[in-house]
Amino acid sequence: MDKISVAEARKAEAVGKRVCLQGWVRTRRDSKGGFSFIELNDGSCQGNVQVVAPGDLANYEAVVKHLHTGASVVIEGEVKASPAKGQATEILASRVELVGDASTETYPLQKKGHGFEFLREIAHLRPRTNTFGAVTRLRHQVSMSIHQFFHERGFYYIHTPIVTASDCEGAGALFRVTTIDPDAPPRAEGKVDYTKDFFHKPAYLTVSGQLQGEAFACALGKIYTFGPTFRAENSNTPRHLAEFWMIEPEMAFYELTDNMELAEAFLKRIISDALKFCMEDLKFFADRLENNKGLFEKLENVLNNPFRRVSYTEGVEILLKSGKTWEFPVAWGSDLQSEHERYLAEQHFKCPVILYDYPRTLKPFYMKVNDDGKTVRAMDVLVPGVGEIIGGSQREERLDVLESRMKEQGLNPEGYSWYCDLRRYGTVPHSGFGLGLERTILFLSGMANIRDVIPFPRTPGNAEF
Ligand code: 4AD
Ligand code: MG
Repeated sequence: MDKISVAEARKAEAVGKRVCLQGWVRTRRDSKGGFSFIELNDGSCQGNVQVVAPGDLANYEAVVKHLHTGASVVIEGEVKASPAKGQATEILASRVELVGDASTETYPLQKKGHGFEFLREIAHLRPRTNTFGAVTRLRHQVSMSIHQFFHERGFYYIHTPIVTASDCEGAGALFRVTTIDPDAPPRAEGKVDYTKDFFHKPAYLTVSGQLQGEAFACALGKIYTFGPTFRAENSNTPRHLAEFWMIEPEMAFYELTDNMELAEAFLKRIISDALKFCMEDLKFFADRLENNKGLFEKLENVLNNPFRRVSYTEGVEILLKSGKTWEFPVAWGSDLQSEHERYLAEQHFKCPVILYDYPRTLKPFYMKVNDDGKTVRAMDVLVPGVGEIIGGSQREERLDVLESRMKEQGLNPEGYSWYCDLRRYGTVPHSGFGLGLERTILFLSGMANIRDVIPFPRTPGNAEF
């Protein structure tokens, strides 16, 4: 007898096999004919498999007729072609074993649908819901596609540190890492003395692996990172997390246009793999989520059309001419907000937009300054439904310009001397970008809130579970 998954048991090829299944009861229904139907799920696919438990099973009265939603069971039986609509197969059980019961009174996931806000309060049980099963399988597929995409193109996967002393984005949104006793910190000259701290200097959780990634790109050519990143921004929005996963490729001898090309091919590969391997789950998202009927049209449209490349300056002109009233006013030199990004991608161009050449004052020190002196070789990829999904740039490879940019932004080049060395010795034009994994899942699924596409979200005021 083979142990198989629900996904395998649902396939017509399984008919006639004697099998063993292990999973959780979604529902049980007792038929007047003296037998019961059990809907079984094990997370291997969106659908359940229907188990028919005949009344002559030895434990039928004592156990089967008391199986509750949420209980774990082992089922042995034969796969049959199902007469019922919407399913190819069902299992005729010869043995039903209750492994762990779940109380109807207290198990929080009953048959009716639950709101996402409620599910966040039981984030340890929400993996058992259809939506989180679908999100989890999609996240897995996207992660695999990312590794495959880069591996096939000769990129090396680099593990950059989680603890770091540098603020890559220069935004100051850092979580401190320390072993200093907050009630009795060592002091020098009236301030906390971090030379007595674990790392002998202030240390933080990384906001990006880019700077360390650059060191490897400037030796191995093409690399990428894929890891957790941390931002202590107090942004309570449906698009921000305090802990999220970012993928950062970095390429030596790459100009900004090469970078744009790679970003576009990368996103398209992720979409086409999702359409190839996650169809059942994508259909679920399209059918069940509010305002998501156009999901496939959106994905196909992005997949089959070139991304529009538009300079920041042109983008601002379009926004100013749009006649719209914005919550945040638009002006050259001020940062674009989600409403502006989404207007460009969703309403004006109706396709992904790569905005490039942003004002130097808006972007971090490491971006290459253009000849106009006013803008830097930045690029943000904006997609319908989400806004910014990728942020990247060509890096400043000239030592003198880099050092003056650091000073301009209040950073001490001495603290970044190792990073400056990459320009001191064998400098090359190089570029890279960062893709937010959770924003990618939002885009692919049409889910509305980023807290609902990561297993255990960390946001201001929330680090439960
Ligand atoms: O634009 P960002 O800040 O770029 C960087 O960190 C660069 N070091 C990347 C690089 O050039 N190597 O972040 C990149 C992407 C964003 O476009 C967004 O998708 C995601 O990371 N992101 C977030 N996702 C969730 N929550 C947050 N708080 C995020 N901040 C950025
Ligand atoms: Mg950005």
